[in-house]
Amino acid sequence: MKKWVILLITVVILCSGCEEKKGIARVPEYINELYALGYSKEEVERLEEKLSDTSLDLITEYDYVEVLLEIIEDDFFNIENLEKYLKYYEPRMVASAVVYIVNHDIQYTYNEKLVNLMNHQYFITENLDRYMKVESEDIDTIIRTVNTNIDREFYTEIKETDISKETLLIANKYYQLPKDYFYGELVTIGNAYSNNKGQKLNKTAYEAFKKMVDAAEKEDVHFRNLSAYRSYQTQNGLYNNYKKEHGEVWADKWSARPGHSEHQTGLALDVAVKGNSYFDGFEKTKEFAWLQENAHLYGFILRYPEDKQEITGYGYEPWHYRYVGEEVATYIHEENITFEEYYAYFIERNGS
Ligand code: DAL
Ligand code: ZN
Repeated sequence: MKKWVILLITVVILCSGCEEKKGIARVPEYINELYALGYSKEEVERLEEKLSDTSLDLITEYDYVEVLLEIIEDDFFNIENLEKYLKYYEPRMVASAVVYIVNHDIQYTYNEKLVNLMNHQYFITENLDRYMKVESEDIDTIIRTVNTNIDREFYTEIKETDISKETLLIANKYYQLPKDYFYGELVTIGNAYSNNKGQKLNKTAYEAFKKMVDAAEKEDVHFRNLSAYRSYQTQNGLYNNYKKEHGEVWADKWSARPGHSEHQTGLALDVAVKGNSYFDGFEKTKEFAWLQENAHLYGFILRYPEDKQEITGYGYEPWHYRYVGEEVATYIHEENITFEEYYAYFIERNGS
């Protein structure tokens, strides 16, 4: 009996010893250090929930970071960069910006312009150097300028266009088409829909064009195709004639260089009033007014508007329409943007 009593007492003593030790272990040093740095009880609790002892120890080596929890909860937080965030942070910095700058090893000094650029919905990291060079304080302008390439001189850095974008592929002064390329199937435009015989257009675009012409006819509006698909060779002849006659500046304002014309895709066409072999003055016709209101409903956009010449790189062409499908045409129409912008924001990087 005595033995049992001694054993019981020993066990009780040992266990209380364990408890004591556990109790000591439960208050690691970093906790008081974090309080001393300025972290609140709630912050410390949340940090403990999210980070390991080693990370918490690391935090105690730096000054108080007001937005530390925001940094840790940021979608792009990377635990391997924890020390870099702590080192980089200075009072009043925005958490998401700190995460972004550190993750991408961005070398620019932290300032409001940089943060606003990075927060812009169409910001592209690889374009940062170019954004910083644009002389504007307006963030939308800077993003648009660079994403649509107009910070670069026309025809200086030419890329092969991505033909996998199909009806949404782009051909302009930065993107060229393969020499023999046109999109999908070309069909001959019926004489009822064209002022010129034997013209060709992409089949889908043609179906849409016919519907559009038929709808317009019902409202006593009469326009027809004047020039649709043009091969590389045809465009080459056209451009060179313009150049010979009017000089390069004029030619580049009104004609694409071979390989750069939307007409080569088969997805664009110039229209004129029924029976006319020219489109001069088209802007003042009821046909143009109708197209302005309705073209997007059939999947066509006015491709070279008057107030967007700086972006498109071409003079105002009230007669030139590009097929992009109803949904995209409606978006472009309603947002009053160019195809260059639409392509840069939604197509180029989205694999769609
Ligand atoms: N006139 C347009 C820009 C073209 O030549 O494709
Ligand atoms: Zn045209």
